[in-house]
Amino acid sequence: MTHPTPLPTATASTPEAIPVTNPLRAPEDYRLPRIAGPSVLVIFGVTGDLSRKKLMPAVYDLANRGLLPPGFGLVGFARREWDAQDFAQVVHDAVKQHARTEFKEEVWQQLLEGIRFVRGEFDDDEAFDRLHQTLRELDESRGTGGNHAFYLSIPPDNFETVVSQLKRHGMAEDRQGHWNRVIIEKPFGHDLTSARQLNAVVSQVFPPESVFRIDHYLGKETVQNMLAFRFANQMFEPIWNNNYVSNVQITMAESIGIGGRAGYYDGIGAARDVIQNHLLQLLALTAMEEPNSFEAAQLRAEKQKVLAATRPPADIAAHTARGQYLAGWQGGKQVNGYLDEDGIAPDSITETYAAIRVEIDNRRWAGVPFYLRAAKRMPRRVTEVALQFKPAPHLPFTAAQTAGLGVNSLEMRIQPDEGITMRFGAKVPSTQMEIRDVSMDFNYGGSFTETSPEAYERLILDVLLGDPPLFPLQQEVDLSWQILDPILENWESSGKPEGYAPGTWGPASADAMIGRDGFTWRRP
Ligand code: BG6
Repeated sequence: MTHPTPLPTATASTPEAIPVTNPLRAPEDYRLPRIAGPSVLVIFGVTGDLSRKKLMPAVYDLANRGLLPPGFGLVGFARREWDAQDFAQVVHDAVKQHARTEFKEEVWQQLLEGIRFVRGEFDDDEAFDRLHQTLRELDESRGTGGNHAFYLSIPPDNFETVVSQLKRHGMAEDRQGHWNRVIIEKPFGHDLTSARQLNAVVSQVFPPESVFRIDHYLGKETVQNMLAFRFANQMFEPIWNNNYVSNVQITMAESIGIGGRAGYYDGIGAARDVIQNHLLQLLALTAMEEPNSFEAAQLRAEKQKVLAATRPPADIAAHTARGQYLAGWQGGKQVNGYLDEDGIAPDSITETYAAIRVEIDNRRWAGVPFYLRAAKRMPRRVTEVALQFKPAPHLPFTAAQTAGLGVNSLEMRIQPDEGITMRFGAKVPSTQMEIRDVSMDFNYGGSFTETSPEAYERLILDVLLGDPPLFPLQQEVDLSWQILDPILENWESSGKPEGYAPGTWGPASADAMIGRDGFTWRRP
C-alpha cells in the first residue's frame, strides 16, 4: 500500500472552507461545509442490496464532495470468503454503478487506502477480535481517531448478537473524546411489543445518544424542505389548519413489484414497510406545530406531540383498505402477481397496497382526515403530500362558469420531479367568464443549480458528525406502532386482501373507503 494521502477536503477546492466538527455551529456558519471528523464506518451486511446500492455509493459521494476527513476508514464485515481486495472490488463496482457524483480515480484511490474487510460470523468471537484489531490498526495508520460508527444493515434478529459482541469486545463504550455509535435501519420491530424488545436489546449496550435510527425519508432534501416551506414563510401557515384544509393525502406509490425481496417483504407488507416509518414521519412534519428551533430535542418533541395526537379510525373496516397485486401487464411487460413471485407462499395475505385514514386530535386538525397510502405496482413512482382545501364558501359564478374548477390544492412532491405545486382556478382567456384549474409550480431543477444529495449521504454524514435531528427517537417509533397496531390486528383477522391489477391505482375498496368521506384519491 502506498502512503496514505488525505481525501480531498473542501479546503482544497474552496479556500474559505474550514472543517467543522461541532454540530451546534453558529448560524452564520451556514455556508461552511460540514466535514466529518476522523472516523471509521463499519458496515455489517455489506453483501446486501442497501449496502451496495446506497451506503457504499454514499460514502464515495461524500469523499468526492470533500466531506470526509483524511482520517477516514470503511470496514466491511461479512461471512463471505473475501479478502480485502475482493471487498475493495465490490465497493469499487458499487460506486461505479450507483454513485451520484462522477467517478474520479484519485478520490477512489484515497478512499481505498482506508478500506478493510473482516470475515466472520456474527457469533464468532475471533472475528470480533479481528474487527477490533482492524479498528486499532486504522486508528494508528490512518488517524481515524478511535471514533467508530457501526451500521447494522442486517436483519433485526441479528442485532442482539452483534451489539453484544461489540460490547464484549470493547467496541461499544465512548472513551475520553472517542465515540462509538450504532446505526440501525427499519424495520424497528413488527409491532409495538417487538419494537420495544428490539430497543431494549440495543439500549442495553449503547446509550440513547449513540443510537442513530435511520428513516431515509428524513434524509431527503424535499422532506427537509417541508420545514423550510412551512416555517420560513408567512403565506402558508395561516391556511394550514382545519379552517381551510378539507383533507390531506400522503401517497407513496411505486411502480415496481417486490422484486427479489420476498424474504423481507412477505409477512411485513406495505403498512409495516413504509407507513409505520416514512409516511408517518411525513405526516408528523406536515401536521406538527412549529418547533422552537431545529435542534433535535425541539424537533423531536413536536413530532412526538403530533404523533401522540394521531389516532387510527374507530371503524377500521370502513376507513382502511388493503390489496395485493395480481398478475397482468405493466408498462408493456407481463408481470407476476404477488402470489407468483419467488419465495411467496401461495396463501400469503401480505398486503402490497395499504391505505389508512387517521385523524389528529388537536385544535389545528380536528375533523381533517389524513389519508396515507403506500403501494407497489402502481401506474407510476410518486411520493407526495397533498393538502386539499375546502371549497370557497360562496361562488359568485354560475355552475356552468365553474364547471372546470376543481379542488384547490397544495402538493409537495417528494419525488420524482421534486417540487411544489399549487392548484387553483383561473379565468380562461376569452370574452366571457369561464374558470378552469391551473397550477403554479416550483421545481428544484428550475430554481437551483445545485443537485440534491442522496438521503444516505446526508444521514451518514450526520452520524459521523453526531448531529441527531434527522434521526427519530424510540418514542416516535413506539407512537407510530401505537397508531398502526390496531389496524394490523384487524387486517390479520380479515382474510385475503383484495386483488388489483398492476399499473392501476389499487383496489376498489380503497376508492370506496375515501368515497365514504366524500373525497376521491388524487391520481398524481
Ligand atoms: C424502503 C422500503 O424503505 O423504501 C422499500 O423498504 C421501498 O420497499 C423504498 O421500495 C423506497 O425508497 P425510495 O427512496 O426509493 O422512495
